[in-house]
Amino acid sequence: MSYKINTKCVQSGYTPKNGEPREIPIYQSTTFKYDTSEDMGKLFDLEAAGYFYSRLQNPTCDLVAAKITELEGGTAGMLTSSGQAANLFAIFNVCEAGSHLVASSSIYGGTFNLIAVTMKKMGIDVTFVSPDASEDELNAAFRDNTRAMFGETIANPALTVLDIEKFAKVAHAHGVPLIIDNTFPTPVHCRPIEWGADIVTHSTTKYMDGHGSCVGGAVVDSGKFDWMAHADKFPGLCTPDESYHGIVYAEKFGQGGAFITKATAQLMRDLGCAQSPQSAYYLNLGLESLHLRIARHYENGLALAKFLNDHPKVKTVTFPHLEGDKYYELAKKYMPDGGCGVVSFEVEGGRPAAEAFMKKLRLIAIETHVADARSCCLNPATSTHRQLTDEQLEAAGIPAGLIRLSCGIEDAEDLIVDVAQALE
Ligand SMILES: Cc1ncc(COP(=O)(O)O)c(C=O)c1O
Repeated sequence: MSYKINTKCVQSGYTPKNGEPREIPIYQSTTFKYDTSEDMGKLFDLEAAGYFYSRLQNPTCDLVAAKITELEGGTAGMLTSSGQAANLFAIFNVCEAGSHLVASSSIYGGTFNLIAVTMKKMGIDVTFVSPDASEDELNAAFRDNTRAMFGETIANPALTVLDIEKFAKVAHAHGVPLIIDNTFPTPVHCRPIEWGADIVTHSTTKYMDGHGSCVGGAVVDSGKFDWMAHADKFPGLCTPDESYHGIVYAEKFGQGGAFITKATAQLMRDLGCAQSPQSAYYLNLGLESLHLRIARHYENGLALAKFLNDHPKVKTVTFPHLEGDKYYELAKKYMPDGGCGVVSFEVEGGRPAAEAFMKKLRLIAIETHVADARSCCLNPATSTHRQLTDEQLEAAGIPAGLIRLSCGIEDAEDLIVDVAQALE
């Protein structure tokens, strides 16, 4: 029986049997006990399914990963300690020293640094492409050693919308998977796998947790990418792993299981970015109301974007689902029921006006966060990008008067009243 997405948010991942706890149990244990060393040996050899050490796998984390996997429509999934770790694992599972990645330039700054600076030090090269690039331009970015393509459904903070079908078509023409960070719309509003994405990642720290309580991440495999058909490109999946008894992941675990098994058995074992079972429990509480919250976040975002769009003290408003936005058509195509609650806008008067505006806010807090139940905002020029001059900010497409506002799930009227009085 396949349930609707709202039901999956509430019920997927964990179905208690007769007499078992209704609530997902927290297995607060680093280790697990066995009757014989043979039993444990089978786990180490990946001959039997089970748990031996919570750095690799923990039952609570797996139940929550199973829910996110169902929400995205994938075949296997895993939790990670953060969204950064999720993107690192997704990319590093197919790329190695000497590999090349094609990535959208419109992505979260932390991911940009991960790819452009840290992965470069690991020997992985990158070509950034505009999210608006034509098919020809995208094709031109590929090389013989390209191993993956990467982008964000709705990018943080630029709020560009990725043409997932176009990116998937080009990635597949070059025999590599498309990895999509789907943090902002969540699977309630967009399921990239349905549009051709192969791997989906999340910063669960954002809407999935939804209450600003736990940092976390997730990786989901669609099970659709045929690794063996491109075995020369993906030796890590298609040739024996000497660090794991010569296992060939794509042979032993098939198309649906190879990617996540390798990421768990190899990357989690060696890099150890595991999510704690306690955090996974909180994440599940967030997921149980995700469908209700994301709808309200979006409604509030749209209401505020419309208000700002008509305001004389506001120069520009960016919200993909606002009619007239550059990404309106793509937003409607990929997210017919709505996107997320993040709006960005530029006030007349630059940096001093933005600072004065934010000082006057009563309900909306100043934070470096987005995507939790309480509305918050920041002015990049005086916070995340304060080392840049006004001229450098303009060049980077971040005007000094720009404010990024993450609408929470309060009453839209109260948010508008707060913004209105601060603008006055
Ligand atoms: C789209 C996106 N991906 C990844 C991350 C990184 O996630 P985390 O902060 O959980 O490491 C963020 C954080 O803001 C994000 O917005």
